[in-house]
Amino acid sequence: MSRLTLRDISTHKNATPLVVITSYTPPVARLFDPHVDILLVGDSLGMVQYGFESTLPVTLDMMIAHGAAVRRATTHALVVVDMPFGSYQQSPGQAFENCARVMKEASCDAVKLEGGEAMASTIEFLVARGIPVMAHVGLQPQQVNTLGGYRYQGRTEDEQAAILRDAKAVEKAGAFAVVLEGIAEPLAVEITKTLAIPTIGIGASAACDGQVLVAEDMLGLTASGYVPGFVKQYAQLSQTISTAAENYAKEVRKRTFPAPEHTYGKKG
Ligand code: KIV
Repeated sequence: MSRLTLRDISTHKNATPLVVITSYTPPVARLFDPHVDILLVGDSLGMVQYGFESTLPVTLDMMIAHGAAVRRATTHALVVVDMPFGSYQQSPGQAFENCARVMKEASCDAVKLEGGEAMASTIEFLVARGIPVMAHVGLQPQQVNTLGGYRYQGRTEDEQAAILRDAKAVEKAGAFAVVLEGIAEPLAVEITKTLAIPTIGIGASAACDGQVLVAEDMLGLTASGYVPGFVKQYAQLSQTISTAAENYAKEVRKRTFPAPEHTYGKKG
C-alpha cells in the first residue's frame, strides 16, 4: 500500500469525506492505518497519554518521538504532526527551525499548527520553504488560558466573522487543509462552502470535507471518563482492558497462570 500524498488529500474537497484520527503509538496507529486517510499525531497526547491538564506542557521532543514511531509503524495514511505550544508562535524563523526538525526527525508528511490570521504569515513562510501545513482554527486548545476554558467558538456574529477571516487567511497563506474545532454548525458549513481546501471538523459539522476524533475518545479509553458531546464512542476498550486485567490478576493469584503451555521444558 503506498502512502497517500497531499495531492490525494486535496481530491477530497466536496467529495468522499476524509477520515482523520489521532494516533500516538504504533500498536494503535497500525490498526487505524488501513482505514483512514490521515493519522494526526496531535498534541492532545499531552492530556491523553501523559496526564497533563492541557496541551501546553507538551514538548517538541515528545512530538518528534511519537511522530517518528507512528510514521515507522504505518504505510498508508498521511502522517501529520502537531507543533506544540511555544514552538512556532514567536516568529516565522522559529517556526521554520522547529518544523524542519519535526519533518526531518519524525520523517512525517506535514505539520499542523493552531491559529488563523495571526499565523498566516508564518504559514506562508513555511509553505514557501517546503513545509506542508495543516491549519487549525475555531477552538484552539493552546489558547485555553486566554479563552478561559474549552468553550465552543463562534457564538456571536463578530466571533463568526473573525473565524471565517481566519479560515480564509490560512487558505490564502497556503495551508493544504484546515481543522475546524468546536464551532457553531452553520459557520462550519459556510467555511466549508467558501474554501477551496478541505475542512476537517471536530465538534463542527457533518458537512465538513472530513472528520477527526481523538482516538482514545472514540475507542472508549478516556482516562478521566469525561466524553465530550461531539464524540461518538465506537468501542468500550476501558471495559475490555479492565476485564482482562481482573482475569489476569485472579489467575496469577490462584496460580492457574502460567499453565503448562505457557512454560518452557521442565527441569531434570
Ligand atoms: O491535538 C489534537 O488531537 C488535535 C485534534 C483534536 C484536531 O488538534
